[in-house]
Amino acid sequence: MAPDHDEPLSLPPEEVRRLGYRVVDMVVDHLAGLRDLPPVVVGERAALEARLREPLPEAPGDLDEALDLAAGVVLRNMQHGDHPRFFARVPSPSSPVGMLGDALASGMNAIATSWVGSTGPTVLELVVLDWLAEMLGMPAGTEGILLSGGSASSLTALAAARAARLGGHDPDAVVYCSDQTHASITRALRILGFAPDRVRLLPTGSGFRLVPGAVAGAIAADRSAGLRPFCLIATAGTTNTGTVDPLAALADLAAAEGLWLHVDGAYGAPAALTEQGRALLDGMERADSLAADPHKWLFAPYEVGALLVREPGALAAAFAMEPEYLRDTTGEVNFRDRGPQLTRATRALKLWLTIKAFGVDAIRDAVARGIALAERAEAALRATPGWEIVTPAQLAVVTFAHERAGAVDIAARAVADGYAVPTSTVLRGRPVLRLCTINPRTTDEEIDATVARLTELAERA
Ligand SMILES: Cc1ncc(COP(=O)(O)O)c(C=O)c1O
Repeated sequence: MAPDHDEPLSLPPEEVRRLGYRVVDMVVDHLAGLRDLPPVVVGERAALEARLREPLPEAPGDLDEALDLAAGVVLRNMQHGDHPRFFARVPSPSSPVGMLGDALASGMNAIATSWVGSTGPTVLELVVLDWLAEMLGMPAGTEGILLSGGSASSLTALAAARAARLGGHDPDAVVYCSDQTHASITRALRILGFAPDRVRLLPTGSGFRLVPGAVAGAIAADRSAGLRPFCLIATAGTTNTGTVDPLAALADLAAAEGLWLHVDGAYGAPAALTEQGRALLDGMERADSLAADPHKWLFAPYEVGALLVREPGALAAAFAMEPEYLRDTTGEVNFRDRGPQLTRATRALKLWLTIKAFGVDAIRDAVARGIALAERAEAALRATPGWEIVTPAQLAVVTFAHERAGAVDIAARAVADGYAVPTSTVLRGRPVLRLCTINPRTTDEEIDATVARLTELAERA
């Protein structure tokens, strides 16, 4: 029997098709014109409210008008992380294939929670996780889960680490990381109930790297004070400078001391696909848990982070639940048992489609291009009087400072100027500018023009 399209909250199929094509057209037109837009558009709250605030609609509205408002106002006023001249924070140079995967999954309201309700999406997620483990060099048998991003992945990893190594909360347990560790990790430790005096934020050495000897010293001091060293957190590509901690030495130390090694590769881990990156990331494969974000350097749209855990069952030991009302859903693999979400969309579909569409070789080349673009930016900055390289290009990040103008001022001018957007950060108390060049669609000319434009903005005293 044909469905009745007078049923509640439905649209006639032809209308869904027409609107769906409009949405696709809007996206395709947006992507085709992306280079002509500023990378970041910061709206005025009053102006946005004037367009968007209205009484709660009681009656049906015009969907075409609403779509125009969404594309023209809501989605216009934001940072465009996939813009080829968006170099701030960590860009998200997503591929349109990922969008197709998300649209398909959302259109079919796919769920990846428990076996009986999600066999297809579950097996797809298992396949994608195995592909990711292989791409990143993690051993066969590694388990994982796809989450919203790096923050959720590290929070989930640290909860699993605590369950595996401590069996629960222990007020004497101590965690070691560096002053360059991402703030989402210290926040995760706070959420998990670690007191500030149980988190050793060790000063980094040269190149902003964690110093294994300093970690060993801190562990020894804590042991002799009767505390319980438990987890070591290393970063594979720090947000500030793209630095990779000495992973092999830290893995040796963690093994010798019986510590769980969590590696935050949220942004940098995909560099393992390239020869250059593999050498830098040597030892990453020995992590007990690894966070890597496909919505950063694996070209997926928001939101998708991957958590990979070496020890089978460690996630389930922290997260499994089996209430009576879910008995009928339980089967071979239940992703609800590997992380904090019960209802979960499938994030695997967009990754699976992206990898199938382009293949790993093209993804490897795209990652390598990001590394090369940062090297080009470094060379252009070195060749331009007034700039100082503060940290050289590492995993697609370069930091620099100008003799005439402050980093915060230049970054603000760049946003207003609308050509290219760097980010400002602070290294050992010194404000610096930073470019993160992971978008493979950025051209060499755009890198050169960005350096020229930033120079103009710096000299505009
Ligand atoms: C190294 C690192 N870790 C963690 C995160 C947090 O990731 P997310 O924003 O996806 O939660 C970031 C974000 O840029 C990052 O660069």
